[in-house]
Amino acid sequence: MVKKSTLPKVFLRRPKNKGKSATLKIPRLLAVANQKGGVGKTTTAINLATALCAVGKSVLLIDLDPQGNASTGLGVRRSAIRKSSYDLLFENANPAEAGVATKVPGLYVLPSSIHLSGAEIELVTAERREFRLRETLRQPLPYDYVIIDCPPSLNLLTLNAFVAVDSVIVPLQCEFYALEGLSHLTKTIERVKRTYNPNLSIHGVLLTMYDRRNNLSAMVADDVRKYFGETVYKTVIPRNVRLSEAPSFGLPAIIYDMKSPGAHAYIQLAGEILRREKKFMAANTQQVA
Ligand SMILES: Nc1ncnc2c1ncn2[C@@H]1O[C@H](COP(=O)(O)OP(=O)(O)O)[C@@H](O)[C@H]1O
Ligand SMILES: [Mg+2]
Repeated sequence: MVKKSTLPKVFLRRPKNKGKSATLKIPRLLAVANQKGGVGKTTTAINLATALCAVGKSVLLIDLDPQGNASTGLGVRRSAIRKSSYDLLFENANPAEAGVATKVPGLYVLPSSIHLSGAEIELVTAERREFRLRETLRQPLPYDYVIIDCPPSLNLLTLNAFVAVDSVIVPLQCEFYALEGLSHLTKTIERVKRTYNPNLSIHGVLLTMYDRRNNLSAMVADDVRKYFGETVYKTVIPRNVRLSEAPSFGLPAIIYDMKSPGAHAYIQLAGEILRREKKFMAANTQQVA
């Protein structure tokens, strides 16, 4: 456990005993996805989830990548894993009970397991194979948010996430080939929207690993903003060594070093995402009315 004194003060202001949410409701569901590896998906999922907990939300982070980086990055030991995201897909595990408490008050993780690497093949022949996650997550749960950390591929696992969630956050690394493969990703999201999940949207595109000393970063950021316009979050995540060190301590950077530029950027991102959330919710209510 992290000593209480090392937790940033915001967490200590959380109401006592408020772990999982006291009231059950269908949570808001977000996926963090990009079929490229190493663009900052897991770093974003972990730190965004932590920042949401800092403002009092209860969050379940689902590690849907067989590599399990979100699980280890949050200090979950393999030996401590009882239920995994595999059990959610195939064993009807209950997400309300399967979430493991982390060192972050309010943050629960559903770890990945080695079985998940075979899940793609098992899904091919499974009944209602695209709807597995949707059916278990779209029910009243003790979480305000469920965040899914997707694998670096547009496979059936990622497809399950797209069918389940309300919205997708797309991290893009500020490097030369940032936009490559992106039309494939946006077309996949469009197809899922047409076929399985009519309310699916891109929540936002997030520029990651931005290096101020490098002109290429600025050029890529300009290109991405020209291409995606307002969809790109104003917050940009800088390249920051604290973000890459934190997982080896099993801690989110926001707790490992809250004053670091990387942690600061993710706190700012959470604020921007919550403001965008209000707009999304208002638009959805209008649609229903
Ligand atoms: N903004 C950043 N600055 C420095 N290193 C980063 C940053 N974001 C991620 N990293 C590091 O880059 C690697 C890939 O990031 P990760 O979040 O695991 O990407 P993905 O989940 O898309 O594969 C990891 O080692 C991570 O610690
Ligand atoms: Mg990852």
